[in-house]
Amino acid sequence: MEVRNLSVIGAGVMGTGIAHVSALGGIHTTLVDISLEILEKAFTKIKGRLQKGVELKSIHQGMMEQALSRLKLEVDLEKGVREADMVIEAVPEKIELKLEIFQKMGQLCKKDAICASNTSALSITEIAGATGQPEKCIGMHFFNPVHLMRLVEIVRGLETSDDTYEVTKGVAEIMGKETVEVKESPGFVTSRINALIGNEAFYLLQEGVASAEDIDKALKLGLNHPMGPFELVDLVGLDIRLSVLEFLHQRLGEKYRPCPLLVKYVNAGRLGRKTGKGVYDYKGKE
Ligand code: NAI
Repeated sequence: MEVRNLSVIGAGVMGTGIAHVSALGGIHTTLVDISLEILEKAFTKIKGRLQKGVELKSIHQGMMEQALSRLKLEVDLEKGVREADMVIEAVPEKIELKLEIFQKMGQLCKKDAICASNTSALSITEIAGATGQPEKCIGMHFFNPVHLMRLVEIVRGLETSDDTYEVTKGVAEIMGKETVEVKESPGFVTSRINALIGNEAFYLLQEGVASAEDIDKALKLGLNHPMGPFELVDLVGLDIRLSVLEFLHQRLGEKYRPCPLLVKYVNAGRLGRKTGKGVYDYKGKE
């Protein structure tokens, strides 16, 4: 099966990036969200990033124009998904919301459409159950920022068919990504390891073992991580990290219990770059 039309549900941090690489890869892409304002913001962001790509000579002007011409914005879910050969869901990490969206996709999408979720950690098998066609459902775990990060973890649910897997792998490759195949398991590979590293960093900070700056510096210069754990969590969102840890704690046990300092920051609204303050303060700096 060839994926000519792809829809992305949710035009936030991840959906914007997924729509970008999809349109740039040559796929007609519809970005769906609940308001036109959010969608227009996403379009402006994609245009800005493509323009930067032209300046850096990683793409040429014609590629940028073609990519933008392949992008459509839609506030109506039904209109947004009915033509799609594949839909990638990137709404917030809440199981009730994902189940609701997948149930609607089961009713609104073409019968042979593939339904993928960009969940960071939730169960693809559980999400797939909501569509009535679990063999057509799969996880596509992209990384932030999507237009720059090279990997997609492809997560097979219990019923995901080989055909669905192969088509999804092909789409990720068209988007310029490398893939790894992961079986259904809470947190897959990357979120599970990353959650532990990030949580441990908060415990170190809470215990006063070192400053946030020095913990970040230690992991970058001593362990060769490209970003420190606090720089990363500020980019990802502390609320997203907390929901992943809560889920892993519930499914895999005590070692994933969220650090109280992380919980405190989230309760205080310190969610990272998106709110202007997370572990670090970005107000007036961006
Ligand atoms: P976000 O909060 O930036 O964006 C979510 C978007 O979904 C918002 O624009 C919101 O208006 C929209 N939305 C909410 N309900 C909707 C509905 N019913 N229909 C259409 N759109 C709706 O979230 P973000 O960070 O993009 O995360 C999305 C998913 O990607 C989550 O499952 C998250 O765990 C996962 N993820 C996030 C990463 C990150 O670094 N932020 C990395 C990898 C995966």
